[in-house]
Amino acid sequence: QVGTIAQELGFRAYLVGGVVRDILLKKEVWDIDFVIEGDAIKVAQRLAEKHGVDYHPFEEFRTAHIKVNGLKLEFATTRRETYPHPGAYPLVEYAGLKEDLLRRDFTINAMAVCVNPDCFGTLIDYFGGLRDLKDKLIRVLHPLSFVEDPVRILRALRFAGRLGFKLSKSTEKLLINAVSAGLIAKAPKGRLMNELRLALREERIFEILELYKKYGVLEHVLVGIRWSPQLEKKLLSLRDVIAWHRIEFPKEKIDYGWVYLLVLLEESEKGMDFLVDISAPAWVRETYEDIKKNKKELTKKLLSAQKNSEIYLLLKNKPLPFLLILMTEEDIKEKVRVYLEKLRSVKVDLEKFKGLSGRQLGKAIEEEKMKLMDAL
Ligand code: CTP
Repeated sequence: QVGTIAQELGFRAYLVGGVVRDILLKKEVWDIDFVIEGDAIKVAQRLAEKHGVDYHPFEEFRTAHIKVNGLKLEFATTRRETYPHPGAYPLVEYAGLKEDLLRRDFTINAMAVCVNPDCFGTLIDYFGGLRDLKDKLIRVLHPLSFVEDPVRILRALRFAGRLGFKLSKSTEKLLINAVSAGLIAKAPKGRLMNELRLALREERIFEILELYKKYGVLEHVLVGIRWSPQLEKKLLSLRDVIAWHRIEFPKEKIDYGWVYLLVLLEESEKGMDFLVDISAPAWVRETYEDIKKNKKELTKKLLSAQKNSEIYLLLKNKPLPFLLILMTEEDIKEKVRVYLEKLRSVKVDLEKFKGLSGRQLGKAIEEEKMKLMDAL
């Protein structure tokens, strides 16, 4: 339909960017980007009218988006971007498809598929994106790519981690140079934080963090963090804990990326400042404070706890992310595991407490629970 509408208006429409990459990789897509050689807003408007939905135009950039059937469709007018200085927001001018693709980050993200009826389905691949997808390579389109937009340093590692790809030899060199030239610090902080939030949402966040470590990028984003063998061991241990939790408690959904971040920040002096910068959700900030204040003492008490009821009393008010982090400590892991797998779900027979109510009832139930768990 988009292609037909574009054709009627005398424009050309293309699917572009991540959606083309993901279709070729046979992944699900929910956000669909189109570029229009012509006027994107007019296409979005007409499509929205046909479906009886709203469209949201941004006149300044000649872009618009609409939502249909759970899909988000973005329409942009093909454009060229130039960067007045490294990391700056780009200056935008209108241009053809090729220039629009040339302004993009990596070859695998710079392919397009024509959707006009006369060329429907034709892949447009000026820079060898399809070959790089097959060879599992992340490759920039030109040597200044990381200089123009240093956020791409992190993006390159996010895509490499997510897809299990490598950086091409030349891209790797450019990335290493860009990191050692301190370009990451030149990127606007908001964009950097946004990129990090995206990384934290990735399923393969552990692999991404490994790449961050390999190329020394995190030190530039998270001031004060230092990689140490202990930290690496902890992250590895967290990966195992999370794999276990995913399987054992599939219904307890949490954003594991934030839990990794909490481990990274545990020893940092400026952890809270960073969490504010990255607009971490309240639960992350609260857990961070809780860890800073109570983890050492709690670990000590857990070490000496003998009975199940003691473990229960120590852990019962702790949020799940805190518990997962505790499990990265080898010597108390087993106790926390028993708590999560057994103790927290011990049930009592309420029949026994007929006649009791309020506080008394609560207390009696807790006492009975603890009796039962100590007998386990
Ligand atoms: N892009 C770019 N440089 C950036 C950010 C984005 O060139 N710093 C281009 C890429 O072509 C990318 C497209 O804009 O494919 C859309 O960006 P985004 O939605 O961030 O990326 P996706 O590729 O769709 O990635 P994801 O799967 O994470 O949504």
